[in-house]
Amino acid sequence: MIVRVVERKPRKRTYLMCPPEYFAVGYAINPWMAPGTPVDVELAVKQWTVLRDTLLGLGHTVHVLPPGPELPDMVYAANGAFSVHGVVYGARFRYPQRSAEADRHRAFYLEQGWRYVAPTVINEGEGDFAYLPGRLGGLVLAGHGFRTDPAAHAEAQSVLGRPVLSLHLSDPRFYHLDVALAALDDHTVAYFPGAFTAPTRQILRNAFPDAVIADEDDALAFGLNLISDGRHAVLNSEATGLAAKLRAAGYEPVPVELGELKKGGGSVRCCIAELRSA
Ligand code: ARG
Repeated sequence: MIVRVVERKPRKRTYLMCPPEYFAVGYAINPWMAPGTPVDVELAVKQWTVLRDTLLGLGHTVHVLPPGPELPDMVYAANGAFSVHGVVYGARFRYPQRSAEADRHRAFYLEQGWRYVAPTVINEGEGDFAYLPGRLGGLVLAGHGFRTDPAAHAEAQSVLGRPVLSLHLSDPRFYHLDVALAALDDHTVAYFPGAFTAPTRQILRNAFPDAVIADEDDALAFGLNLISDGRHAVLNSEATGLAAKLRAAGYEPVPVELGELKKGGGSVRCCIAELRSA
């Protein structure tokens, strides 16, 4: 038997995060949220800080967006925009409780000198958009079914000048693409097939024969809500099954505890937006 050892190479990344200083669960816009759930803000900030320090420890750059007191979900910074090769496609949130977050992100990008294009349709940024720079000259994976309007897939394609592969989510527990699928490197992904419609499962099988396949337990533990630099996959510590699968595929799982933020229906990836300048 020939065992091919794949050397997984990390690439330096730049991220944007927003501390959960005003985190709360006062409304429910996904099945994970139970309004009135007590939240330990101090613990949330501690866990968030460990996540930020983990990224810094891996050599990445992390920008911090100041949180807004009236925006309890702003810690989920992934939803604020989607950037590719220096162009930012802005977000437009599905629910009014979060809509003001888009302007906060917009202000950040404009101040940093990015080219920012405002959306005309609902899309929740990196919550529903992933990017594989090594496919087709840069392939955008785009989820719909719960939050992002499919019309935003076409809009993203014309704004970003990159092909978009539309993926249809079918299980409300996995309401954003980033809780059902994760980019592991420039070419491939990990995903939970059960989160998608049958035609989309077929598309994913064809496009990603080398994908890491997660099971329902992995997905429910928010394991797929991970961030990878091509080698290190930072993921929720409860997703031990997926961590083992990633290790077997040559990636280095880096577990972090993010229990408080699960109460809002998110984990690692939700807290991070990648800034792709090139
Ligand atoms: N409570 C937030 C919402 O429902 C959680 C967002 C999680 N973010 C993500 N990228 N999946 O909008």
